[in-house]
Amino acid sequence: MNTSTQEIQHAATLLQQGDIVALPTETVYGLAGNALDLVAVNKIFEVKNRPLIDPLIVHIADLEQLNELATPHPMLEKLAEAFWPGALTLILPKTTKVPDLVTAGQPTVAIRMPSHPLFREVLKVSGLALAAPSANPFGYLSPSCAQHVQDSLGQKIPYVLDGGPCSIGIESTILDLSNKTPTVLRPGPITADELSAVLGVPVASKSKQAPEGEACTAPGLLKQHYSPHTPLTLLEAGNPFPQEILQQDRIACIHLRRPHTCLPQDNIQHFWMSESGDLTEVAQQLFSLLRMLDTQGYTRLYLEMPQAQGIGVALRDRLQRAAARA
Ligand code: TXA
Ligand code: MG
Repeated sequence: MNTSTQEIQHAATLLQQGDIVALPTETVYGLAGNALDLVAVNKIFEVKNRPLIDPLIVHIADLEQLNELATPHPMLEKLAEAFWPGALTLILPKTTKVPDLVTAGQPTVAIRMPSHPLFREVLKVSGLALAAPSANPFGYLSPSCAQHVQDSLGQKIPYVLDGGPCSIGIESTILDLSNKTPTVLRPGPITADELSAVLGVPVASKSKQAPEGEACTAPGLLKQHYSPHTPLTLLEAGNPFPQEILQQDRIACIHLRRPHTCLPQDNIQHFWMSESGDLTEVAQQLFSLLRMLDTQGYTRLYLEMPQAQGIGVALRDRLQRAAARA
């Protein structure tokens, strides 16, 4: 992927003018705007059709920028050294500089230093802190390549910076440092065990749904989220696909790895997210495959769930929300 200086400059100029643009990150594509500009932040909510109770993550280039936005924390240094730039978002008490619109009125702000070279360039050239939720319509599958953004938001935004497919493919881990015990609010590519090993203290996990109508302090935690339009049924790995699929119209069976044998059945098509079942590859493919299958007119998608180990914890979290119906 050969992105020119002009393309980076174009994105940075739009952002400086108060516009919003889609940018690649290593996790998923983000819909970015100047975090300190209310007009830009409003546009983000509008374009995504996102409820104002769902706060945004602010992306920074370096730790100096963090000090303007959040109060430092005794655990920050260790975490930043181990995981930044990267797929970790930290919840910290906010400074008065951060607009309430960004944080949904909460006294805390979510901060992430992304590692994608193009995102970092845009941060550097623009000199801004960038609020950026995933660049998808609210509730739909997150975008893991530029075409996904074009397909669903292309008409509504002035620019999508193409950085190729995202290397990770699912959203960052969110760690809340605003309470006594560090707590994972959204599982992600960096696991609670990895965080705990670096911090030398236990890390709690609190992946539950936000009560209806309240600010989503527990993020992405609406029961239904990341959902394809086609109904999705989840199956535990190793369990056979249920007999009922034989009676359905047109079914897609999504396997973790290439299956040895497949039922040769006219109404069923088989797909796999990785040749070998490697969960890093599964994460890279998951949203792409679901988006593609969502356009193919299947009556239902059946998907084999990974085990709750490593990034499997985050994959299960996303899939359970994707399969839920409000
Ligand atoms: O990997 C990622 O984190 C991607 C890329 C673009 O950086 N961003 C992303 O943003 O996933 P979004 O908006 O789709 O999800 C961010 C979540 C929201 O569900 C929100 O509830 C939570 O972060 N959040 C933001 N500020 C918060 C706060 N102050 N306290 C608790 N949760 C917060
Ligand atoms: Mg999102």
